[in-house]
This record gives sequence, C-alpha cells and structure tokens, in this order.
Amino acid sequence: MRTVNSLRELRTILRGYRREGKTIGLVPTMGNLHEGHISLVRKAGEAADVVVTSIFVNPMQFGASEDLDSYPRTLEDDQRQLEAAGNTLVFAPGVEEIYPQGLVQQTKVVVPEVSDGHCGASRPGHFEGVATVVTMLLNMVQPDIAVFGEKDFQQLAVIRKLVRDLMIPVEVIGAPTVRETDGLAKSSRNGYLNESERAIAPAVYRALQDSADKLGNGRSDFGAIEREATEALSAAGLRPDYFNIVNSDTLKPATAEDTELTILVAAFLGTTRLIDNLSVSR
Ligand code: PAF
Repeated sequence: MRTVNSLRELRTILRGYRREGKTIGLVPTMGNLHEGHISLVRKAGEAADVVVTSIFVNPMQFGASEDLDSYPRTLEDDQRQLEAAGNTLVFAPGVEEIYPQGLVQQTKVVVPEVSDGHCGASRPGHFEGVATVVTMLLNMVQPDIAVFGEKDFQQLAVIRKLVRDLMIPVEVIGAPTVRETDGLAKSSRNGYLNESERAIAPAVYRALQDSADKLGNGRSDFGAIEREATEALSAAGLRPDYFNIVNSDTLKPATAEDTELTILVAAFLGTTRLIDNLSVSR
C-alpha cells in the first residue's frame, strides 16, 4: 500500500490503474481511523478494484472555536489499519496542497436547504467546508464510487445533493453506522471522553431507540417525543444541542404523513460533541 502527499503523484498512479481498466473507489476521511472507517474501506473494496482513502483534516469545516488543532492525527496507525483492510492507496495531502491560495481565496461549494438546520445551524460554515473539500476530492480522484458513513446523516444528504446538482459522475454509497457493544456510535471524537463521560455516552443511542419505539408504535406527536428525549439526555448528564425528528429525504421536520423518518441528535458531554441518528420506516 502506497501513501502519496501530492496531487501530481496521485494522478500519475490513478492514470496507471485506469489504463489497466480498474475501477476506483474513494473513502474520504480525516484520519484517526476506527472500525467505522474500516467498514467504509471494506465496502469500497467490494464495489471497486482499487480503493483510495484520503486522510485530510480539513480546516475549512472547523469553526473558530472548534477542535482543528487538537483533532487527533495518527497517520502511522491509520496506515497500518488501512493496509490490513486491503486499501490500495492513501492520499494524505498537507493543507497547502489542497488550499494553495488559502481558505479566503478558495472557491466554495454551497449546498442549499439540506445544509440548513441541525448540525448546519449549530456549526455555521461546516457543510460549506465539507461540500467544498468533498467536491475537490471527487475531482482529484475521479472515482467510480465513493463511500461515506451514515453516522453523519446530514453530511451524506449534503454530499448526495452536491453530486446530483453538480452532475459529478460518481456513485455515492452510504455505509451503516458501526457501534460499540453498548450502542455508542464509533467516532474519532469518542477518544476525547473521560471515563465517567464514556459511561454516560450510550444514553444518546438509548434516547434514539426509545424515540424510534414511540414512532414505531404510531405516535406522531413529534414535538412531545423530542422533548421527552431531550429531558432524558439532560437527566443522563448530557447537554442536548438538538434532537429532531425529520423526513429522511428532505431533513425537514417530520409530518404525520411521512413514512421514512430519521431522528437526528447532537449532544455535548463536557466539551465533546457527539452526533448520532436512527431511521424508522412506518
Ligand atoms: O466525515 C468526515 O470525516 C469528513 O467530513 C469528510 C467527509 C472526510 C470531509 O472532510
């Protein structure tokens, strides 16, 4: 497995694969890989001959008060896990390679509506940063398929829309959330939790399951279900950011007629912000 840092090297190697008639899968990541990421790499390997994993902590998607500087950078461990998962090529560019003119001068991709609300409301500019770097990565790698985790449900919706709207010739594949045995969704940010916070964290998934049961039982008083869940999260020791029951396609507030619902949650434990979601068909 090779690791390259420059776009020039990346393109040279990919040209070779294409000449051999190989299909290419892309897994964009910010590194600090865990089983969730590895499941994306394996999924990409099932759908394409060659898997490129990008590792780039994208400054454009971090707010001024967020964890860009402290975000864990663990390239060697990431490389070891990727090699074991059958990944072909790692693209690990520096910030200057991706944004040679700096962030202010960089052309940006804005995805309307679906970027608004939920994480978009709590993290202004976040999805602009995600949409911009993902568009650039898709242009740099020109993959046949690209795999993203369903754990970042709103992000996946933003990416599906930008690919559709900008007519980027790639198939976007969503991969199911990987969880710890107690239900906590795997996330690089789980590493920030201390022991007592880690013990509280599964309350997020419990609140999702509890609400999903209520929806499954036919309740459509979404506001009340959201309030009950928010109270449960607070009682467990979390600080809820939002708990929203939405239409799975539009991410707009659910209506009683909707059959595909998704519950989106973000909550703080100390300074760590956890997100998760659960979809319900009815
Ligand atoms: O999900 C992530 O790790 C990032 O948001 C992504 C898609 C790699 C873009 O930087």
